[in-house]
Amino acid sequence: MQSHYSFSGFMGKRVHMGVTGSIAAYKALDLVRSFQESECMVSTVLTEACTKFIQPLSFEALGASPVYTKMFEANSGSDTTFDHLEPGQLADVMVIAPASANTMAKLAFGLADDMLSCQALAFSGPKLIAPAMNPRMWAAPATQRNWDMLGELGYIRIQPDSGHVACGDTGTGRLAPVDAIFIETLKALSPQDLAGKKVLVSLGPTREPWDAVRFWSNPSSGLMGGCMAVAAYLRGADVTVVTGPTELEFPVGIARVSVTTAQQMYEACMDLWPEMDMGCLTAAVADYRPVPYGTDKFKKTSTAGAGLSIEFETNKDILKSLGTCKKSSQKLIGFAAETRHLREQAERKLESKNLDVIAANDISKDGSGFGVPTNQVFVLDAKGRKELWSQLPKTEVAWRLWDHLLLD
Ligand code: PMT
Repeated sequence: MQSHYSFSGFMGKRVHMGVTGSIAAYKALDLVRSFQESECMVSTVLTEACTKFIQPLSFEALGASPVYTKMFEANSGSDTTFDHLEPGQLADVMVIAPASANTMAKLAFGLADDMLSCQALAFSGPKLIAPAMNPRMWAAPATQRNWDMLGELGYIRIQPDSGHVACGDTGTGRLAPVDAIFIETLKALSPQDLAGKKVLVSLGPTREPWDAVRFWSNPSSGLMGGCMAVAAYLRGADVTVVTGPTELEFPVGIARVSVTTAQQMYEACMDLWPEMDMGCLTAAVADYRPVPYGTDKFKKTSTAGAGLSIEFETNKDILKSLGTCKKSSQKLIGFAAETRHLREQAERKLESKNLDVIAANDISKDGSGFGVPTNQVFVLDAKGRKELWSQLPKTEVAWRLWDHLLLD
């Protein structure tokens, strides 16, 4: 699982997974692990066809309980004769992945002739479905009609991917990435308190070119901003990220604008800001850019290093620019990366950049700041609240910062 998806605040939530007969069935095991890392409890129901690909024991070994298979026989970990109704009473969400064409058809028409289809019919909570099948089976009019019907029935549908499939064909029909199914399930479990809000998040470093191969930058991984973006997405926001060069991937529901330099980041953020309800700028923007040497590579010579100096020009302050034109309906969160005088710097930046909240991190501390999965922040807001939070995973910091912004 990608680190900015690794939210752990779902303790006590119950996920019921339905797994059908598909070569992709083994990927359901990764999904079980991801849910467990997020502290969810997992139960599963396997169709008979699924058990031809993967055994119930594999799910049991990972801690899924109960693991249902048969309608009229005892199932592992279950203790009721009403197994076909049990997930409907206990689970918070049901996710069917991979879903075969056959199971999709049963669910679309309300058949109830095996444990999975019975349990799905009796389950009134949110249901997600992620199909996997041969591209010709996926494109068949009957499957497409069933897919539409599942949408009308309220299923949260996760489109299959395109590419090579096991039988050698190419086309649409591969199971969506496990991370995508995971994140959509967490979204179904999350409070939708940012629904209807448009949120802008800047993240990552900027790179300021000097010659054809060299640039001025910093070690930001983009993780802190990635966590802010995904947390807002899970809570229902319409999120756009403006990202410097990072390795991060985002759910398809998050719009991405990729930039390299501070000037490009400035232009992208200024364009987007008037339409936004909230902004959170976590990017480590270069305050200065080197005056370019040119488009050629600077060549090493025996004398060039001696006394070599590079001149710098000032970049625009993106956060300050957004703060200056902030409307009363808009909210703005900034970050501050400091090595000393954390509180004083946070107070100064909160005021001078017209922010609602600022999170200041001491980047000289272990487990804080650049490139690590945790952060320790001093949080200050425009209402005068000041809190020093303990060191937490960045996912947790992000979740709490949105909570903080939503406080009265
Ligand atoms: O990406 P990670 O590896 O997860 O690391 C996270 C982080 C350390 C980058 C993050 O937690 C953080 O501190 N981000 C802010 C980094 C920074 O540039 O801090 P600053 O104190 O220099 O800037 C203050 C604020 O102004 C920041 O919100 C920054 O995005 C913004 N800024 C700064 C300069 C500039 N020209 N334009 C800006 O918008």
